[in-house]
Amino acid sequence: MTLQETVKTEYSVSTTHKLIIGDVRRVLNDSDLIPNQSVDLIITSPPYGLGKNYGGKIKDKFEIDEWLILMDIVASQARRILTSNGSFFLNVSPIPERKTKEIIPLDSYAYFKFKEHGFYLRNKIIWHFHNMQNCMKRLSGRWEAILWFVKDINNYIFNLDAIRVPYLTNDKRIKGVGCNPTDVWYFDRVNNMTKNKHNINHPCVFPEGMIERIVKMSSNPGDTILDPFVGSGTTMRVAKILGRNSIGIEINPKYATLVSKRIEPENPTIFGRCHFEIINYTK
Ligand SMILES: C[S@@+](CC[C@H](N)C(=O)[O-])C[C@H]1O[C@@H](n2cnc3c(N)ncnc32)[C@H](O)[C@@H]1O
Repeated sequence: MTLQETVKTEYSVSTTHKLIIGDVRRVLNDSDLIPNQSVDLIITSPPYGLGKNYGGKIKDKFEIDEWLILMDIVASQARRILTSNGSFFLNVSPIPERKTKEIIPLDSYAYFKFKEHGFYLRNKIIWHFHNMQNCMKRLSGRWEAILWFVKDINNYIFNLDAIRVPYLTNDKRIKGVGCNPTDVWYFDRVNNMTKNKHNINHPCVFPEGMIERIVKMSSNPGDTILDPFVGSGTTMRVAKILGRNSIGIEINPKYATLVSKRIEPENPTIFGRCHFEIINYTK
C-alpha cells in the first residue's frame, strides 16, 4: 500500500469513517487497505459515461465496453470484501447512447456482469422522481434502477420493520407498524430541475432519505458501509447519522473538503462522535 499522506482527525470515537482519495480500480485491489470480508454493505452510483462534469481530469465519456471493465473490477472486488451476508446496492440509469441516442439499459448490463461474479439479484428497485428535463422525441425519463445484489441468496440482512411505511388506507381497523415499502420508491432528486436547490457542489448527490432506507434495511449499527464512488459523501454522512462505520472512495481530491464538511467530524453533538480519516492514494 502506498500511503503518501494520511490526515487524521481524532475525536472521542464511536464510529470510524475513511475517505480514500484515489482510483477505485487501484484502491479496491489493495487487500491491506480493504481486507477480505471487512464490509457489510456497499451502496453506490458509478459514473454512467454521460459526460457529467465531476471536475479535475476525470473523463466521464466512455463506451459500454469500458464501463463493463470498470464494473468487472468493482464486482469482483466487492465479492472479496463483502461479508458472507453482505449486500450491494448499485444505482444506475438508462442512458442515451452518445451518437444515436438509443437508450442503453445499463442495469441489464450490470445484472449480467454481477452474475458473472456470483451475485444474486434480490430486487430491482425503481427509483421514481419528477422534475427532470422533458424529451421531445421519446418519453421523458423519470426513473433510475437500484439493483439489490446479495452474495448469498439464503443469508442476507433485511430489517423490514426498520423501513415500514404508513398503510395506504384510512381504515382504522388496520393496526400495526406499517407496510412493506415495495420495490417502487419515490424520492425527489437533489439536483432537481425546479426545486430543492441546495449548496452541495456536486452534480449528482443521492437523496439522503433513499440512502437512509437502504442503510436501515440492509445493515445494523456498528456495521461497515462502503461507497466506491462516494462523490459528495452522502453515503458516509448517512452511515454516520445511523451509527455505522463507513469507507468512501473518490478519485477527485476536490471533494475531500465537501465530504469532511458533510460528515462534520468536529461536531460530536449532532451526529455522534467519530473518527474521520482522509487517505491520499493518488501517488
Ligand atoms: C455518480 S457520482 C456519485 C455521487 C454520490 N452518490 C453522491 O451522493 O454525491 C460518481 C462519482 O465517482 C467519481 N469517480 C469517477 N470515476 C472514479 C474512479 N475511477 N474511482 C473513484 N471515483 C471515481 C466521480 O468523481 C463522482 O464524484
